[in-house]
Amino acid sequence: SDDEASESLSLGFKSIAGSKTDAVVVPVGYSAQVLAPWGTPLNSIASEWKSDGTNTALDQANSLGMHHDGMQFFPLDGSSTDGLLCINHEYIDSNALHYDGAIRDSEFVRKEINAHGVTVVRVQLTDNGWQVVKDDAHNRRFTAATEMDISGPLAMTAALITPFSTAGNKTRGTLNNCGNGSTPWGTYLTCEENWPGYFVADEATMTEDQKRIGISSLTSGRYNWHDQAGSADEVQGEFSRFNLTPTGANALEDYRNEANGYGYIVEIDPYNPDSTAVKRTALGRFRHEGCAYGKLEAGKPIVFYSGHDSRFEYLYKFESTAMWDPADADRTDRLDVGAKYMDSGTLYVARFDDDGKGMWLPLVLTTPSADGSETLANSFSSQADIILNTAGAADIVGATPMDRPEWTAVDPVTGTVYLTLTNNTQRTDTTNPANPRLNNAFGHIIRWDEVEGSNEFDWDIFVFGSPEDADAETNLSGLDEFNQFASPDGMAFDARGIMWVQTDNGADEVTSYTNDQMLAVVPSKLVDADGNQEVLSASNQAELRRFFVGPNNCEVTGLSLTPDQKNFFVNIQHPGNWPYSTNAAEETPAGTSVRPRASTVVIMKDDNGEIGV
Ligand code: FEO
Ligand code: CA
Ligand code: CA
Ligand code: CA
Repeated sequence: SDDEASESLSLGFKSIAGSKTDAVVVPVGYSAQVLAPWGTPLNSIASEWKSDGTNTALDQANSLGMHHDGMQFFPLDGSSTDGLLCINHEYIDSNALHYDGAIRDSEFVRKEINAHGVTVVRVQLTDNGWQVVKDDAHNRRFTAATEMDISGPLAMTAALITPFSTAGNKTRGTLNNCGNGSTPWGTYLTCEENWPGYFVADEATMTEDQKRIGISSLTSGRYNWHDQAGSADEVQGEFSRFNLTPTGANALEDYRNEANGYGYIVEIDPYNPDSTAVKRTALGRFRHEGCAYGKLEAGKPIVFYSGHDSRFEYLYKFESTAMWDPADADRTDRLDVGAKYMDSGTLYVARFDDDGKGMWLPLVLTTPSADGSETLANSFSSQADIILNTAGAADIVGATPMDRPEWTAVDPVTGTVYLTLTNNTQRTDTTNPANPRLNNAFGHIIRWDEVEGSNEFDWDIFVFGSPEDADAETNLSGLDEFNQFASPDGMAFDARGIMWVQTDNGADEVTSYTNDQMLAVVPSKLVDADGNQEVLSASNQAELRRFFVGPNNCEVTGLSLTPDQKNFFVNIQHPGNWPYSTNAAEETPAGTSVRPRASTVVIMKDDNGEIGV
């Protein structure tokens, strides 16, 4: 049983010290290899990566993208040495992407567009370690320009009509793909996080939902791809579409609706290279960080959890209308299975109450406002209308403003759900029970159990980030040198029940001691004499152990193990001066400067054993 599996599970490595070098650090007895860095060709169309930055936009469309983030390994025929890696490419470092003196023109902007999105790449373990299989038929890129389908409540509605999709069921590209999820039927879920900054609009023309979600003004765009609008070689508004300001008579004549095609959970079938990615609008439209599914039970709905990563934003849950049929795990029409479970259901937002209880509030027309004076029907005309401005609907029903909800993860042993709340230094005057620290510079991890047959849940805070030398009011979990951390972000359980926590550190008190890192803990082992799950505290905090430290200036984000638990893929995003060689643990020599490349690192145990135990 699951419980027996949990009893034999314990961490088998010693917590490592912090590190501040241009190298990856892993425990004694492990090695770490650089695999699939930014710019690695997927096929023979692309030139090899060039260290002077002169690869073209076409090369980039046929190579690994930049700034790896969420990731999942999909085995081929159940193998642990041959499979497909799906890798998110969240954003770009323009300085590293372009050669010195590159002129900003349509080619330049297309290279940026093509460096975003998702890669599917076949990887195999060979006598020379893990290798990318160039020209494999599964290899493909989804960029910020790739045609995708829209499904769920917003499909075929007026809000999705653009000159590109007059029926309102297609869009081009996926943006700012941060965290990820997967499904029980073998598809990849990529999450669109900070997409509003890619779109600009004249503030005088902005709609309420554009203002609420944070679309950029004409002068505050993140990459300003719209500035190539009208280029002699512009194809079908490929650059114009990033400026939402109405210029024509209606949505068929301008790109006022373009951003309505973003902010979703996007489903990809990595096993079918001819398939089209699908944006599942039923799961809400916001800055999705991740998407984890709850513990499965045959004959019950499937639920997916997703945080909205922005200060004072919310936690969401989607519950399928269809009941889980285990036979669907083996179907090969995977996107049809996705439609069955992800296009119809109920979207909820979380309210955390002060007695360790919480409530899922359905985002439907009949739900009352927080003060009971009206319902969502007073503000929205349809379910599609609610989804379009998900966060605005959540405001009305009284959801709890959180300290930047990042990844969710589900304990395979207990079914308990965990959420990283990365930090919130703008929480200056009002706390709430689930976010109890003012100026929350170090973040925390909250968790909950669903109450069967109701919309209630029971929650507690599992651990508070902190530097080891902070006072007891701040270091609430009693962390020490070997597990001090701040800004928890990436997080997932492996199949055995080890929870892996990655950091995206913004707090000097911890970064002065160590670079971003990954820690491990087995929450299902932490139970009191009555069998109740314990939180981390001074008496048991040593169960949280540091397993991995990244190179200088990086973020550690995205993780996946092979089915045999012997190969651990971890992503390094935006390193400063790394990698130096294919040995991820080799330090870039002092005085040497390399063009930095985000990369997957694959960790193996020297005795070929399972990772972590
Ligand atoms: Fe892209 Fe919320 O981290
Ligand atoms: Ca993140
Ligand atoms: Ca980051
Ligand atoms: Ca983050």
